[in-house]
Amino acid sequence: MKKPVARVAQLHELLHDHSHRYYVLDNPSISDAEYDDMFRELQSLEAQFPDLQTPDSPTQRVGAPPLDGFDSVQHAIPMLSLGNAFSQDELNEFDRRVRERLEREGDEVIYVAEPKLDGLAISLRYEHGVFVQGATRGDGRSGENVTENLRTIEMIPLKLRTASPPAVFEARGEVFMSHDAFKSLNASMQASGKPAFVNPRNAAAGSLRQLDSRKTAQRRLSINLYGLGEVIGMDLPPTQMDALHLLAAYGFPVNNDIQRCDGIEACFDFYQTMGQRRPELGYDIDGVVFKVDSISEQRELGFVSRAPRWAIAQKFPAEEAQTLIESVEFQVGRTGALTPVARLQPVFVGGVTVSNATLHNMDEIERKDIRVGDTVIVRRAGDVIPEVARVVKYKRKHGARKIKLPQHCPVCGNPVQIREGEVKARCTGGLRCAAQVREAIKHFASRRAMDIDGLGDKLVEQLADAELINSVADLYTLDVEAVKAMPRMGEISANNLIKAIDTSRRTTLARFLFGLGIRDIGESGAALLASHFGSLEAVMAADESALTSIDDIGPIAADSVQTFFANADNRAVVDALLAAGVEFPTTETMQVGTLLSGNTYVLTGTLTVFTRDQAKQKLQLLGAKVSGSVSGKTTAVFAGDSPGSKVTKAESLGVPVLDEAALLELIGPVE
Ligand code: IVH
Repeated sequence: MKKPVARVAQLHELLHDHSHRYYVLDNPSISDAEYDDMFRELQSLEAQFPDLQTPDSPTQRVGAPPLDGFDSVQHAIPMLSLGNAFSQDELNEFDRRVRERLEREGDEVIYVAEPKLDGLAISLRYEHGVFVQGATRGDGRSGENVTENLRTIEMIPLKLRTASPPAVFEARGEVFMSHDAFKSLNASMQASGKPAFVNPRNAAAGSLRQLDSRKTAQRRLSINLYGLGEVIGMDLPPTQMDALHLLAAYGFPVNNDIQRCDGIEACFDFYQTMGQRRPELGYDIDGVVFKVDSISEQRELGFVSRAPRWAIAQKFPAEEAQTLIESVEFQVGRTGALTPVARLQPVFVGGVTVSNATLHNMDEIERKDIRVGDTVIVRRAGDVIPEVARVVKYKRKHGARKIKLPQHCPVCGNPVQIREGEVKARCTGGLRCAAQVREAIKHFASRRAMDIDGLGDKLVEQLADAELINSVADLYTLDVEAVKAMPRMGEISANNLIKAIDTSRRTTLARFLFGLGIRDIGESGAALLASHFGSLEAVMAADESALTSIDDIGPIAADSVQTFFANADNRAVVDALLAAGVEFPTTETMQVGTLLSGNTYVLTGTLTVFTRDQAKQKLQLLGAKVSGSVSGKTTAVFAGDSPGSKVTKAESLGVPVLDEAALLELIGPVE
């Protein structure tokens, strides 16, 4: 038999077309039986001629063999989050800021109003029109590679519906689960004795993060696309509305309720209408999103930290329910802060069962006059921790007890103190307090700090329970045998963890400082200290005026740094870490901003002499900016092995692309 190349191509086209009509347009033109016949014909041809089976074939939606874990994917353009407005005033304030920045105070701005789907954000990447990669949002800069799972979602086109696709096209949107799909999934979970999912969002997240994509294929996930990521080889649409039309034309499902709104009044009307229609939508939304329509205006407005200035989410009011406070406990956090937590009679609020709620601090308890035994209103808004909003006073019983701040830490017994001018009570036990130590270890191991892969919160708890780790430095004394003894820990995972711990020894000063968990020193504060002082010794020796000479380090943060290093326990931990071989490149104390100031570089591909982080840090030390994406402002791109599309983009913009040797020449080797 001659290879049926043409027939296979024709079946691809027909099946793609009919599934688009069925799943995206909700308007099928053939019967299910006719579809099934064509599908089986294609399956049988692929079985006879395996080389005709391509990843974009309609037969490839059934799922692939299970993975060991998800790879991480760097987003070429970061996936941002959104600022929130909780009232009409806050929305008006957003509009005022937009108009002020655009210098069109007298004018109405055109917005696009979209339902805010309550699912999880993903990015779909197409190269030359073919779906090649799908990733979760992750921390916005990098997410998990869930390509195989996304491929099983019928609403996602495996090929763009265009004859002339651009070289690269990234579509961004939300994966979610409809109420119908959620109900039937939970019914079948319960029928097979498995725990039900608490809400559609958790069900969607759980389904998308299955290592076995054949399981994902059985969950009826939905998706709506609402934005673009990296696009190479075509002009960007001039407005958000045009982008949505383009997405629809390429075969993506776009939400039906999206509307153009001229001016902020129209936006507020949209918010109210959607609020009323919410119960009948058939899927969860937790608010609406407003985006400035014009892309050039979006560019002009830019970003603040991780959120665009050109968009805002207006959330629906938090959901509330009534229940009883059974007791109050005090939890001890990483910095020793004691947080009062109410143990509640379990109650269903906003889609989940809540049995704990934060009382924030003693001032709040006083202000709201909350007592143990009170009937209270519990409130839950989106992802935030449930809180006790108010007491239903007329239901107060005689025995309702006042809540007292313990004099001693419930975990370590050291005295509890409230600092002058603060509302939070803190345990003074520092690193002698087991609760603080555990939180400190979790923070130390986390991705943005020492990045110890595989050391999650649960494992830290288990290792601490087994008294294998009593300080962050103890991590470096762990061996495979000890780790293997933990529940559900196999040989391979134990080995991998020990390897990851070992790898974390070679880090950067910025990560190390951040990992120490110094109060008031976040990720960017740590980076500033590192680049300003160059070495740990210099940071430790710095006095207040040296510390506050850095822009963005104020007297409070400076005091926290000094207090941290003045504490003998903390110094002992630092010494133990250094003795365990933790190291970071030390550069001579130098003024940042000398040699390369004003230059912006992009690093891509695998470097051999340094890691990308090391190169980034050195460039920054020399005063350069290092960016994650290429633009007209990029000075040069340094490309290592197997670089991605950033090189193509640089070339299209006329930005020089240099190799690692040139980088080495510029910044010298890592000491
Ligand atoms: S736009 C640049 N549009 O909300 C802005 N986000 O709070 C990026 N979301 O991570 C997001 N519906 O998971 C946008 N129509 C919509 C959305 C939406 C839901 C989610 C998304 C994002 C989060 C931000």
